[in-house]
Amino acid sequence: NNHLVIMAGGVGSRFWPMSTTENPKQFIDVLGVGKTLLQLTVERFGNLVKPENIWVVTNQSYQEIVKKQLPDMPAGNILCEPCRRNTAPCIAYVSWRIKSKDPKANIIVTPSDHIVTDKAEFQRVIKECMQFTSETDAIVTLGMKPNRPETGYGYIQADLSTSSLRNKEIFRVDSFREKPNLETAQEYIKKNYYFWNAGIFIWNVNTIVNAFRIYQPSMAKIFESLLPIYGTDKEQEEINRLFPECENISVDYAIMEKAEEIFVCPSDFGWSDLGTWGSLHEQSKKDLYGNVSIGPDVNLIESHNCIVHTMQEKKVVIQGLDGYIVAENNDTLLICKLSEEQRIKQFSGNN
Ligand code: GDD
Ligand code: MG
Repeated sequence: NNHLVIMAGGVGSRFWPMSTTENPKQFIDVLGVGKTLLQLTVERFGNLVKPENIWVVTNQSYQEIVKKQLPDMPAGNILCEPCRRNTAPCIAYVSWRIKSKDPKANIIVTPSDHIVTDKAEFQRVIKECMQFTSETDAIVTLGMKPNRPETGYGYIQADLSTSSLRNKEIFRVDSFREKPNLETAQEYIKKNYYFWNAGIFIWNVNTIVNAFRIYQPSMAKIFESLLPIYGTDKEQEEINRLFPECENISVDYAIMEKAEEIFVCPSDFGWSDLGTWGSLHEQSKKDLYGNVSIGPDVNLIESHNCIVHTMQEKKVVIQGLDGYIVAENNDTLLICKLSEEQRIKQFSGNN
């Protein structure tokens, strides 16, 4: 059976003050379309996965928000982490949880902070990859064509000379490098065989569980030991007790940089990571002067290339501003040069 895992426990600190620790960006209608990023994530998969096989892994403090935003989801499919340990423990936990219920599961793991503009192509690619992982012990990544030396992504070096025998769109990966420095990223993007990691992974449950056993044995031991109690009343209690023992590490460093049987499906479905204000500005519809305004009553006068986001019913007038972020939320107002947006993490006090 196909399962979908949505990772929704990050804090989105580069999107402050819209995104806060109490209400991070995945639970916000960032695009102003009437749906939050989490809701758009579920919708993107259409009916590829049965509702009872959709899992959301999040911090326990967001459990109620998830329930409210996804009312059709069985409550038992929201897995709650007692503390932040990044994505490797998140994936380990849900993988063993799924294994306890469906030992032959085929799994897609997705972040909850992305946008995809071509949903049909997205679903076609996912189906191809799922077909592949149902037949092989492969870790499959989706490769996006890079257009700038972004240091916030993982880079995949594909061996384009050897498409897999089973699928002409899927290639072997020579190496995976998470968040390289700028010089390295600049070198990578000169070559046509480097791709950005979209952060979406496809594998069957045994492949990922075995990868954890090999590359993260102590994490594997913890979640393996809980096999008898998954789905029982004791699960949360035991998770609360043992989860904090996991190393704080992302799956990209913990598994992807180390594993050997990695494949990539280079694809193009209008993917974008909504990581920063700049990426939202880039992705959104702009007025004639390059401004993006999201909010009930925003008036920009003689201003260019700004992004304005308000969460309250409030009249906002801005005159003569070039290249700025203006973002407001409850008791916080941020006015920051777009070009300095990487510093927002520090301003938020959440780094
Ligand atoms: N449950 C849970 N617990 N989810 C988490 C946690 C956690 O502790 N930390 C992060 N997440 C969720 C986030 O909410 C997000 O949806 C997803 O996991 C990815 O985490 P990010 O923190 O946004 O990762 P990133 O953007 O720095 O890097 C990843 O994505 C890039 C593409 O967007 C990596 O996979 C990169 O290689 C990749 O290029
Ligand atoms: Mg991200």
